[in-house]
Amino acid sequence: MSDSPTSERKDDRLWGGRFEREPDKAFDAFQRSFSFDRRLLPYELAVDRAWARALQKVGILTEVEVRDTINALEAIASELDGDPSFLDGSTAEDVHHFVESALVHELGALGWKLHTGRSRNELVATDFRLFVIDAASSLQRQVIDFLTVILEQAKANFGIPMAGMTHMQHAQPILLSHFLLAHAEAFSRDVTRLQHASESADACPMGSGALAGNSFGIDREGIARDLGFSRITANSLDAVGDRDFALDYLSALSGIATHLSRLAEDFVIFASQEFAYVILPDEYATGSSLMPQKKNPDSWELIRGKTGRIHGALLGLLTTMKGLPTSYQRDLQEDKEALFAAHDQIAAMLAIATGAFAKTKFKEDRLRAVASNPVLFATEGADYLVHRGLPFRQAHDVIGKVLSEAERQDKPWTQLSLEDLQKISPLFEKDCFSGLTVEKAIATKSVPGGTAADSVKLAIAALQERINILHSGLHEESQSKSLKRSVSEAEASETKSKTKTQTGE
Ligand code: ARG
Repeated sequence: MSDSPTSERKDDRLWGGRFEREPDKAFDAFQRSFSFDRRLLPYELAVDRAWARALQKVGILTEVEVRDTINALEAIASELDGDPSFLDGSTAEDVHHFVESALVHELGALGWKLHTGRSRNELVATDFRLFVIDAASSLQRQVIDFLTVILEQAKANFGIPMAGMTHMQHAQPILLSHFLLAHAEAFSRDVTRLQHASESADACPMGSGALAGNSFGIDREGIARDLGFSRITANSLDAVGDRDFALDYLSALSGIATHLSRLAEDFVIFASQEFAYVILPDEYATGSSLMPQKKNPDSWELIRGKTGRIHGALLGLLTTMKGLPTSYQRDLQEDKEALFAAHDQIAAMLAIATGAFAKTKFKEDRLRAVASNPVLFATEGADYLVHRGLPFRQAHDVIGKVLSEAERQDKPWTQLSLEDLQKISPLFEKDCFSGLTVEKAIATKSVPGGTAADSVKLAIAALQERINILHSGLHEESQSKSLKRSVSEAEASETKSKTKTQTGE
């Protein structure tokens, strides 16, 4: 290269001009972010390409300069695709510094032009938004896959009754499929929450400058379009200084974690010897180093346990944000590590939950035996009396007395003699409970959203329909983005080849 950039500047820092002494070594290490924000490199390169084109439109870069700059950016991208380990040796302060140094190394003084009119404050906000959009869509896919597995289990185990509980006490019989679909409802809402977080992130800050805006008349809408954003941010101070899109994402992740953790709790209990409702798949259980008989539900326990750090990430960023003055503050650098980690953990938790759930076997005989305990039909007994004209509260009292008489006689209440029953209420008639079976108790709950077989069949069909819609929504979304983005460095290579095909580069 013709220029010798290092001889023209006393160091290659992005901000060294007014400083006379070197930074304290410990502080220097303390303030660096490259070790984690390098994950944003694919997005940084995409933003840089868009910015170079925008600078050409306002006459700062010539066509040739843009071409050279974009080629140099592409070269970094290809290197990243090949083997990202070249990043390990870098002494860059952050991902923005890394790219500028690489451009200067490659292009000489031209490399110093790209930062015209822009700030790392808007760059980092833009890169991070792009990351969140991609991350949300990759988790949406995973949650939809998990929903599919829940649906499969609900179909495969259709017709099996189980004891429904409240307060962990036997309440009323339900269908196992109904129980499984309860979890599907929760995870369906998580897909919507991820979508919401993605929409929150979907606004381009570029052109906001360090805080005040851009003085070169840069085409903000054009850059946003170039990057696949559907809108631009409305206020430059807000654009560089807020991270509520990240909070929305962490809150969606916390929702998923909470739902996974509750499901995990159910399965840990169901796998216990006292319940013995499920057989855990060997692939997702572990043993004890001491007790040979053990088969522990570690997959579910770890999912439940890891939920703590996901909630911690949300609480951490909320706390970081709460005292910040308007506009960019360096505290905001703290937004990334915890969010990256939370994203990675949720991806792993969903993968494990999907695998373990798919391979779990439900023990029909045991579930049916527990669900057939007549204590679970006590409400049906009260309903019987209601149908015979007794006000519900009195019917409730009568069945309460029947139950305590049965306890005294040490037999199921449905087997008390008619004489005993009529001593408590004359409304009881011959064979009043003879037809009272678990199937019948379930069949009465035929409202939409209830546990009767027909209602559950409709719910299964509705879930299938919802999954289809979610799938086609994701498909359309990925086709509508002009830019394919990647979540991780590892995924960058696949993404890039797709971008090339799409844009015909
Ligand atoms: N590493 C910084 C962050 O993550 C990038 C922006 C730095 N801006 C600054 N003025 N120091 O927020």
